[in-house]
Amino acid sequence: MNETANTLSPTTRIAVVGGGYVGLVTAAVFARHYAVTTFEKSRARLDQLQAGVCPIYEPGLPELLQEGVESGRLSFAGPLSVAQHDFVFLCVGTPSNQGGAAKLEAIFEAAQAIGGNISSGTIVVVKSTVPVGTCDRVERIIASQAGGASFHVVANPEFLREGSAIDDCEHPDRVVIGARDAEAADRLAALYRKLDVPIFVCDTRTAELIKYAANAFLATKISFINEIANIAEALDVDVTEVATGIGLDHRIGREFMSPGLGYGGSCFPKDVQALRHMARSNRYRFRLLEAVTAVNRQQRVRFVQKVERVLGGLQGTALAVYGLAFKPNTNDMRKSVSVDLVRRFVRAGSEVRAYDPVVCDKAARALGPEVRICGDPYEAVVGADALVLVTEWDQFLHLDYSRIRELTRRPIVFDGRNVLDRALLEGLGFAYYGVGR
Ligand code: UGA
Repeated sequence: MNETANTLSPTTRIAVVGGGYVGLVTAAVFARHYAVTTFEKSRARLDQLQAGVCPIYEPGLPELLQEGVESGRLSFAGPLSVAQHDFVFLCVGTPSNQGGAAKLEAIFEAAQAIGGNISSGTIVVVKSTVPVGTCDRVERIIASQAGGASFHVVANPEFLREGSAIDDCEHPDRVVIGARDAEAADRLAALYRKLDVPIFVCDTRTAELIKYAANAFLATKISFINEIANIAEALDVDVTEVATGIGLDHRIGREFMSPGLGYGGSCFPKDVQALRHMARSNRYRFRLLEAVTAVNRQQRVRFVQKVERVLGGLQGTALAVYGLAFKPNTNDMRKSVSVDLVRRFVRAGSEVRAYDPVVCDKAARALGPEVRICGDPYEAVVGADALVLVTEWDQFLHLDYSRIRELTRRPIVFDGRNVLDRALLEGLGFAYYGVGR
C-alpha cells in the first residue's frame, strides 16, 4: 500500500472492475494521477481496449484512454487480480430485472473474486448504482473469502452523464462518500483531492439512497415540466418561456427542465423503477414516482397522436426521423425514446427513414428491416411527409432547411425537443409543431 490519509503518490494503485461507461471514464480520469488497471470480463471488449480501441462513443474518452496508456499509468486485464491494490472500484452494471429491482449478480460475482485475492488495507469502492444495503452484503461476501485480510467497503455513487462524462467526472458538483470507517472515508477523499471538488461524507446506506434519490428527482423535474408543457399547449402558452421564468428562481433552477419527449437511457428508467421497487419491498407506495413514470410514457404517446392528427393518419406516410441515440453525444440506444417512437410509427403504417450522426450499424440491427437507416440527413427527408426530430444533436440546428424544404413532400416539422428555430422554419414555409408551444 502506498498512501497515507492525506498524501497519495503516483504509485497509488487502483483497480477498476468493469470496462463500461463508468469504469472506463473513472479509469481514464484517475490515470491522469495514479496507476490504474481496468479489469474487463468480456473477451471482445478487452481485446478492443488492449488494441487501443475505445468501445463506446464518448467525446474525449479515446484521447484520455490513449494518454493513460502512453503514460504507462493505465492498463487493461481480464481475470480479476486485485492483490496489492490500494483501491478497488466496482463499476459493473446493475440492470433491472422483470419486477424492476436492480440485478446484483455482477456485483456479487466481482465481490467473490475480489475476496479471493484482496490484500490487507485495500478499500473497495462501490461506484455502481446499488440498492440500500448492498455495500454491507458486498462486505460480507468479501470477508467470507478474504481469509482474515482487513479491508473496507465504501459507497461512492457516480453522477456522470453520458455525452459529458469526462467533464462531469473531473468537475462534479460533489463527491459522495459513504463509509462506516472514518479513516477509509479520509483515504478515499484524499484520492479525489487532485480534482478539487466538494466532498460529502455520510454512511454507506445514505450514500446508496442519495444516488437513487438524485436520479429520481431529476426524472421528476422532467415529467413535471412535460405536464406543464401539455397544459401550456392547451392554453396557447410557450412552455419554454415558462421554464425560463420559473428556472430563474434558484430554488427551482432551469436545468433538467427542458420539455420534450421525456427521458430515456440506461439510468433514469431503471433507477426510478428500482427505487419504486425498494419502496414496495419496505411496504411503502411511492405514488409520486408512479406518476413520473406514467407521465414519461404518456409523453411519447401524445406526440405520436399529434403527428397522426396533423398528417391525417399515419398509414402510408413517409417519415424522416432525426436522432436515434437516447440523447446527443452518445451512441447509446438503450431505452431510447427514438427507438420506441420509430416502432410506434412503423406499427401505425408509416415508412420510416432514420438518420443519426453516430448510431448506424447498431440502429440497423435493433430497428429491423422496416426502417431505412440513412447515411445523411438530407437523404432521410427525400419525399417525406414530415420531419420528426427526436434527439437534439447539434448538427440538426445547422442544416440547410431551405434544401430540406425542397426535398420533402410536405413541409411539416415535428420538433420533439423544442430546439429548432421556429421563426426560420415558418419563414421557409414549414408548418412547425413543438412540444408545449
Ligand atoms: C443520468 C444522470 O443525469 C447522471 O447524473 C447519472 O450519473 C446517470 O444518469 C447514471 O445514473 O448513470 P444520463 O442518463 O447519462 O445521466 O443522461 P441525462 O443527461 O441525465 O439524460 C437522461 C434523459 O433525460 C435523456 O433521455 C434526456 O433526453 C432526458 N432529459 C434530460 C429531458 O428529457 N429533459 C431534460 O431537461 C434533461
